Amino acid sequence: MKIAILYDSATGNTAYLAEALHKTYPDAALCTPDTCSVTDADCVLLGFWTDKGTCSDKLKAVLPELSRKKVFLFGTAGFGASDSYFSQLIDRVKAELPADCQVMGWYMCAGRMDEGVRRRYEQMCENPETREKGEMLLRNFEAAAAHPNADDATALVERCRAALG
Ligand SMILES: Cc1cc2nc3c(=O)[nH]c(=O)nc-3n(C[C@H](O)[C@H](O)[C@H](O)COP(=O)(O)O)c2cc1C
Repeated sequence: MKIAILYDSATGNTAYLAEALHKTYPDAALCTPDTCSVTDADCVLLGFWTDKGTCSDKLKAVLPELSRKKVFLFGTAGFGASDSYFSQLIDRVKAELPADCQVMGWYMCAGRMDEGVRRRYEQMCENPETREKGEMLLRNFEAAAAHPNADDATALVERCRAALG
């Protein structure tokens, strides 16, 4: 089976996961929406970063090229606390795929956000009306700061291997 890894990453988190997959499947073509070349692939490992609840418009624009292919989805999200959140995101990205794609499986983990976001949350903590929410968001920010890490990469590779057989 010919594999391609197509990923979009704005700040490097999803790129880290894509690199881990590339080490596992070194013969796979590795590309981004700008260099997308998946024509020859039977199966595409499709990586996305979460942009306002779904994948980026840049990635959406190349998804028609995945028609009739097998797809394994992987992604990172700033809010990484629950699998039910992850599966909602996956459902939204699945809905963007051509209807004739066969989704083989998926993996998601948290992905660190930039320092500007932390400052926004800290400001929320200074205002009594937004303090509670700010503290919750700050806790989430700190938890996400440790991801993706080597354990996430290992879990991704295991999940992908099992899905592809
Ligand atoms: C403009 C923007 C929108 C985002 N929207 C969400 C979101 O809706 N849900 C979420 O969990 N994380 C969101 N995030 C966080 C990123 O998805 C997360 O940090 C991701 O790991 C970034 O991956 P990358 O480094 O591969 O770009 C957003 C980040 C940015 C910059």
